Amino acid sequence: MKGVKKAGTFLLLAAAVTAMTLVLMGQAKPRAFLPGLTVADEHPNGCVDCHKNQGEGKDYRLNVSLAKISGHPKIDSMVKQLPEGCLMCHREGGKVSPLNIMLHKVHYEKGEQNPFVQFYQGACLNCHKLDAASGKLTMKSSAKNW
Ligand code: HEC
Ligand code: HEC
Ligand code: HEC
Repeated sequence: MKGVKKAGTFLLLAAAVTAMTLVLMGQAKPRAFLPGLTVADEHPNGCVDCHKNQGEGKDYRLNVSLAKISGHPKIDSMVKQLPEGCLMCHREGGKVSPLNIMLHKVHYEKGEQNPFVQFYQGACLNCHKLDAASGKLTMKSSAKNW
């Protein structure tokens, strides 16, 4: 009899723990953050909507930050459209690193510590655009901002 009672208590306890875990998991599960699909797209033009002159000495325009990389060619007049202009040199099979590899790396390395992940939820749809009706994924694009 004693053994049965013990087993009963154990089962109740196990059920309670399972219920608690499910509640916690429900709370911890992040909501989907999909610009243009589940939330408003605050960066419909891609690169230039983030890499812009935000004033107070925070000039994040790409021509300005690339000029700080020693040896980087001056892109001011060469590049007209972003990111297409970068592909002129950063293309698959070219002499310099391909753009997809390079950009995926800078925006995702170090996970949570990466400012792109911290401030922009690391959403792919900040740069890519998904048309859910057709299923087509395209690249956001815009004229340069300098
Ligand atoms: C939603 C905002 C956002 C978009 C869109 C975005 N970036 Fe970034 N990008 C960032 C952030 C944040 C960083 C990290 C800056 C830091 O390390 O402080 C970054 C870093 C970079 C860097 C490393 C050098 C630097 O300026 O810090 C390059 C190069 C870059 N981005 C290019 C691009 C290009 C090209 C596009 C468009 C295809 C693009 N980014 C789109 C937010 C964005
Ligand atoms: C005229 C050619 C040219 C154009 C246009 C160009 N780059 Fe570069 N880029 C280079 C060269 C050359 C290097 C140095 C070699 C290397 O690191 O692959 C480089 C290096 C870089 C680096 C640092 C090295 C690395 O591999 O992480 C980043 C970041 C970068 N480019 C981003 C861009 C972005 C973003 C654009 C478009 C706004 C762009 N570049 C346009 C030629 C170019
Ligand atoms: C900062 C902008 C940016 C972000 C964020 C970004 N991408 Fe990209 N992605 C690019 C660029 C630029 C290319 C190259 C476009 C080209 O070559 O025409 C590319 C290319 C690709 C490609 C085709 C080539 C390849 O690398 O296989 C895939 C697939 C892709 N991205 C998936 C993703 C996924 C999944 C995420 C989110 C985890 C993501 N991207 C986030 C900019 C970005």
